[in-house]
Amino acid sequence: MKIEILQTAAQVNAKAAWHFIRRAAFDGVLTGVATGDTTRAVYALVAALYETAPFDTSKIRICALDDYAGIEGDHPASCSARIRAQLQVPLHLRSEQLILPEAFPGTPDAVAQAYEERLTSLGGIQTQLLGIGADAHLGFCRPGTPFCSPAHAVQLPEDTRQMLHRKYTLEIEKLPRCGVTLGLKSIMQIPELLVIATGTAKARAVYDSLHHAPDERIPASILQLHPNVTWLLDAEAASLL
Ligand code: F6R
Repeated sequence: MKIEILQTAAQVNAKAAWHFIRRAAFDGVLTGVATGDTTRAVYALVAALYETAPFDTSKIRICALDDYAGIEGDHPASCSARIRAQLQVPLHLRSEQLILPEAFPGTPDAVAQAYEERLTSLGGIQTQLLGIGADAHLGFCRPGTPFCSPAHAVQLPEDTRQMLHRKYTLEIEKLPRCGVTLGLKSIMQIPELLVIATGTAKARAVYDSLHHAPDERIPASILQLHPNVTWLLDAEAASLL
């Protein structure tokens, strides 16, 4: 496990952006992308670098870590829509360069299973960008998620639904109740992981994930058992280490 502590969030974003460009665009490996505020800043930088000095994006293939079930795929709150807005549009990716759970029909459980099978049939994700929640969640794998979980459907906790209500002014009755996420086992099978954490709000989760013995109450603590994970932290996120 590697822990890299950089002074500022801007430095973290730059390092993560270059990781994405190197692995997804230059090496052309299937790259898993989380959504959220942390990675949004990274993708904005990728887009800005492309705008300034366009690089070859034809080999890029990206896939979502998770998504809501039951909101329209083009709703801005959906992870798929955010990936399209933050990466596909600015990098001019063709739709076949994106692998998204929304493309699979069926119940959330069936979607999760079909999505994981599709990723496996493509040779599996080779590198994954991860954010971390303040409770150390990864994707929609909240505290208590079994370490052995494959891709699966989850009931969304009330705080997530309220966040969607506030942030995207979604009507209460249209709020999704379910999500689809890669599981902790799925994440552990990816050969290369980059966890990005910035800001004091993440300091406790970072500390617990790195210092507490692996424990299902701290989802990201499982990453201590991964052979090739890099934690990319700014000074604030690393402040309790
Ligand atoms: C979303 C995802 C989530 C976020 C996490 C941190 O695809 O995987 O686990 O990475 O909730 O979100 P931010 O970056 O918004 O703090």
